[in-house]
Amino acid sequence: MNYCENGTITDFQILDFSNFETGHILLTVGIIIMYLMAILGNLMITMVIGLVPNLHTPMYFFLCNLSVVDVIYVSSSLPKLLSITITQDNRIYFAGCISQLFFFTFSGTCDIFVLTSMAVDRYVAICRPLQYTLIMNRRVCATMSAMCWTVSAVNSLLLTLLTSVLEFCNSHEISHFFCEFKTMTALSSSDTTSREIFIFVEDIIIAFVPFSLTVASYVQIISTILKIRLSETRLKAFSSCTSHLTTVILFYGPILILYMKPESEYSKELDNLFSLLYVAVVPMLNPFVYSLRNKDVLDAVRKINARNIFST
Ligand SMILES: *[C@@H]1O[C@H](CO)[C@@H](O)[C@H](O)[C@H]1NC(C)=O
Repeated sequence: MNYCENGTITDFQILDFSNFETGHILLTVGIIIMYLMAILGNLMITMVIGLVPNLHTPMYFFLCNLSVVDVIYVSSSLPKLLSITITQDNRIYFAGCISQLFFFTFSGTCDIFVLTSMAVDRYVAICRPLQYTLIMNRRVCATMSAMCWTVSAVNSLLLTLLTSVLEFCNSHEISHFFCEFKTMTALSSSDTTSREIFIFVEDIIIAFVPFSLTVASYVQIISTILKIRLSETRLKAFSSCTSHLTTVILFYGPILILYMKPESEYSKELDNLFSLLYVAVVPMLNPFVYSLRNKDVLDAVRKINARNIFST
């Protein structure tokens, strides 16, 4: 069937998980729980950081950015997926698909940039401690965060525009659980070879450079920490990075595994479950990583509680 002969595109079908019969209820409940936890956890982190002056440092401001980005990230794909699993109606309008693509790319890219800014912040804190307040001043931080948001928005807008002019004559069946750039490009019947170069350059700027910068920061950080003689100071320096390092590993680990793993037809469903876990679980974990393992945040939460108890 040629979709292009009968006029404009109206909708697509999201295939994955729509015919997932065995664990259907489990999947639905799982998505609801993960979505709520991601939203609540991240909003709580944002509130705690906003309320507690002790946490008004570059690291926590960036963490606040990360939480806001994560809320957008989960909201770009999970609500629609939820409505698909509940209603069993797997259609998505072209406009809906394109906006999913925009918000997912935007928040994914922004996630990477904010994580990289945090790595730079940790690098300055550990390797240039005396100049820390000078280098990471308010203006620098605000500029860094503005850059994260702007570059992500421009990049995502470009990819969205590139996708919106594609033709989809052969199939409207999206073999993924939401609309995403690579899936849509593969589905298209337009000639996409000329885009490959653009995508290659884009991948380098958006993924390779930030990732290398993060790794380089941590190589420096670890070698600096190893040189500290006093074990107490060493531990203190290291523990100021553990939350961020955990987040970085949680974020990049699954991507690296997915990329390096050999392609296989049989594990398609497993692959999907894995990417669903990735899209839903990682944003949900950040608040836990930062609050459970972090004395500053725990103390802050305790203080807020104490204040509330005393004031009533
Ligand atoms: C993002 O980070 C910047 C710089 O640290 C900070 O000024 C800003 O308030 C943060 N914004 C949000 C929404 O968290």
